[in-house]
Amino acid sequence: MPVTVKPIPDGPLMVKGECEVLDPQGNPIPDKSGDIFLCRCGASATKPFCDGGHKRIGFKS
Ligand code: FES
Repeated sequence: MPVTVKPIPDGPLMVKGECEVLDPQGNPIPDKSGDIFLCRCGASATKPFCDGGHKRIGFKS
């Protein structure tokens, strides 16, 4: 099954499927199991992952 990436309205990118998120040096970033939510608003304190900060800043997209 292919990996899918779907923007959540006014929120993060939801990544479904097996994938690995790497830091700028190419090292895997541990994440929670299950779907991955990547910040696209810039407000997350846990980038590249979403921490819900998009709600705090009223992100619209
Ligand atoms: S998209 Fe959720 S904190 Fe940025």
